[in-house]
Amino acid sequence: MDKILVLDFGGQYNQLIARRVRALNVYAEILPYTTEISEIKKNNYKGIIFTGGPNSVFDTSSPHYSKDILELGVPVLGICYGCQLMAWLLGGEVRTAPVSEYGKITLVKDKNSILLEDVKSESTVWMSHTDYVSKVPKGFDITAHTENCPCAVFENPENRLYSLQFHPEVTHTEFGNTIISNFVKKICLCSSEWQMDNFVESKISEIRKLVGDKKVILGLSGGVDSSVAAAIISRAIGKQLTCVFVDHGLMRKGEGDFVEKTFSQLFDMNFVRINCGEHFLNQLKGITDPEEKRKCISREFYNTFWNEIREIAGGNAYFAQGTIYPDRIESGHGATDGKAGSAVIKTHHNMGKIPSDVNFLGIIEPLKDLFKDEVRIVGEQLNIPKDLVWRQPFPGPGLGVRIIGEITAEKVRLLQDADYILRDEMFKNGYEKQLSQFFCVYTGSKAVGVMGDHRTYENVIAIRAVTTDDFMTADWAKIPYDILTTVSNRITNEVRGINRIVYDITSKPPATVEWE
Ligand code: XMP
Repeated sequence: MDKILVLDFGGQYNQLIARRVRALNVYAEILPYTTEISEIKKNNYKGIIFTGGPNSVFDTSSPHYSKDILELGVPVLGICYGCQLMAWLLGGEVRTAPVSEYGKITLVKDKNSILLEDVKSESTVWMSHTDYVSKVPKGFDITAHTENCPCAVFENPENRLYSLQFHPEVTHTEFGNTIISNFVKKICLCSSEWQMDNFVESKISEIRKLVGDKKVILGLSGGVDSSVAAAIISRAIGKQLTCVFVDHGLMRKGEGDFVEKTFSQLFDMNFVRINCGEHFLNQLKGITDPEEKRKCISREFYNTFWNEIREIAGGNAYFAQGTIYPDRIESGHGATDGKAGSAVIKTHHNMGKIPSDVNFLGIIEPLKDLFKDEVRIVGEQLNIPKDLVWRQPFPGPGLGVRIIGEITAEKVRLLQDADYILRDEMFKNGYEKQLSQFFCVYTGSKAVGVMGDHRTYENVIAIRAVTTDDFMTADWAKIPYDILTTVSNRITNEVRGINRIVYDITSKPPATVEWE
């Protein structure tokens, strides 16, 4: 099978590059820049992509790679930092740009090139750089520029080396997919052999063979990933699987019951639900800092979960998780070994180390090489209910990252009720599938209002809704005014304690999707 290597120099969008390649049905894997060249040679990659990264090539402590990699005869595409590195390694000039470019910029094509085939003569690209290539290496041609970046795309087709200062992997780049496809299909000549069809059957037999008559324990959150992992393992070994669901009380309204019902009724497995909402609230008392809250939820989740697992594991079981490929990279370890790992922007609690006193026969992560959309395809192949497979993402810390300030039972109730109304209206109007994610936020602000003849001073709720392909960048969603009006009227009428609704009109970046 043809494979592309994405060599990781530490940028935030790196996993997207691999995902875009896989969307072309070509397998791509990410390795850290510290990987030995002998290792790279062994794998017979059909092409190599240097990722972006936050550093400057002229800083000696920045991630570098030996020039030898450009002489393997394998096509290389440099992106952003990777583009500067390629130029720098081959004797081009890299400088701090007189004007940093950030955001959507117009790219102007100067020459025809295979890499830019089917890209319009002027198109929008996503830039994010302070250094730039001021002079391309000998033997290279400039094929496109922007107003402030003279060498935005350059290439040496004879040696099959190509560079882009912008990010083709980000959806804001109009012809990003075309450019990646040109590189993978027309320059690296990869054929589309990476298919999902055989994945499920081969995973099921792999799990059966590995597990034999032993047990498997899986932490289930009710989200897409752990649900699909549970389904695939349940299909393989039935009741030998025990799923443990920690209900921290910060789920959406009615969600804990939905998860319990779905898994105990639809799948062949043992299902354990731990109700510990009160305990979490006690632990969260007085905490207002967003990272502290995340850490507290993560710690308590970890302790609750492992105290339960410790009891049932008994040293004679495998441990399974719904880890997917982006988790490994976003957590700053896994595929990148933490060496050039992307900076951790928020503490994710999905990945935790197994406590040293809990012994397992091994770890099973059936989805660890898949991206979210690939996981959904697997879910559909396993006949998991569509509602679950296409569920919006819900953060591990739950409503904890949607309540600004201290978390209390009353605030959770207010938020759950308001959020339920939003979801209800979106569902009724057929909007739940059109948007990537929508929810309410308890803003922690109070506002003056009037009800009848009385002045009120009550809570402000925000509506957050986004459209995105990848959650790395997102646009705020334009929900029609009449739906917003109904939602606002219903929340203020039906949920006592809320007298004002605001709409979040910020994209990511500069905001994040969640408020904390
Ligand atoms: P942000 O707020 O980082 O969110 O722009 C991007 C996506 O990630 C989800 N999210 C999380 N998911 N654990 C998770 O499993 C977390 O700690 C977490 N924080 C954010 C968020 O809901 C959005 O879909």
